Amino acid sequence: MKPKDDQLFSRVSAWQGLEPWGRVLDAGTGNHSLSWILRLKTEQWTAVTGDPSRSAEMRQTFGGQLRGGDRLVVGNWSDPSFLQGERYDVVIADYLVGAIEGFAPYYQDQILGRLKPLVGRALYVVGLEPFDDHAQDEGGRLILEIARLRDACILLAGHRCYREFPLQWMLRHLDAAGFEVERHEAVPILYGSSFIQSQLGVARRKLPLMADRALARAMELHIDALERRALEFINRCGRIRFGSDYVIKATPR
Ligand SMILES: C[S@@+](CC[C@H](N)C(=O)[O-])C[C@H]1O[C@@H](n2cnc3c(N)ncnc32)[C@H](O)[C@@H]1O
Repeated sequence: MKPKDDQLFSRVSAWQGLEPWGRVLDAGTGNHSLSWILRLKTEQWTAVTGDPSRSAEMRQTFGGQLRGGDRLVVGNWSDPSFLQGERYDVVIADYLVGAIEGFAPYYQDQILGRLKPLVGRALYVVGLEPFDDHAQDEGGRLILEIARLRDACILLAGHRCYREFPLQWMLRHLDAAGFEVERHEAVPILYGSSFIQSQLGVARRKLPLMADRALARAMELHIDALERRALEFINRCGRIRFGSDYVIKATPR
């Protein structure tokens, strides 16, 4: 899940302060993080994805903005030789840990230690706090319904869902991996219509992959009905405040 929110990167920029960015590694790249990195004064950047089709799309979008040393690379952090021996002043792990399940299942407890030798001065981790099982109000219940329906469609298509980890889990694992946590902050999320449409869009794209066609048709009707209900709620009540993201700055100990 990727709520588009520059509140998070504005914190990273503020915490970096006057320290130069130098060489930057976007350890789990996407349009949002790379667009932000392109606006920074970096010496060089490397952006990593585990997904060749994402890389091809990003090359189309950003290809014209790569300088001599900038790199968009496809690889998997579970491969010990991938980017071995490289070092970056700043490493960004923007919603990387939540996505690991889709690329290297059960590797989440290893990823921070794997990134450590690549971190010269600072590691910034951005993540989504897993949702509570219950919400206190109608808006929160709609967000939970959307997330559950999306995940149900992903599973019925035979794919793996993202698996988010709480801030406290991340702080424990940063410590265990040899990082000093300098600061961290939970940032409340405001969900709008673009979130509803993008997440139900993920659900819709899984429908053709479901083996049971009657079930797929029933799911489609359910997606349409939930979308109408959620968009109507937002028109009436405004954006939905539910859950939080977090930002962490850590340095190698
Ligand atoms: C949810 S996206 C991150 C969001 C992204 N920063 C953005 O701006 O949209 C997760 C990224 O991490 C990458 N990723 C996840 N697990 C990986 C792994 N084991 N090795 C390499 N890349 C991985 C995915 O391919 C994807 O590029």
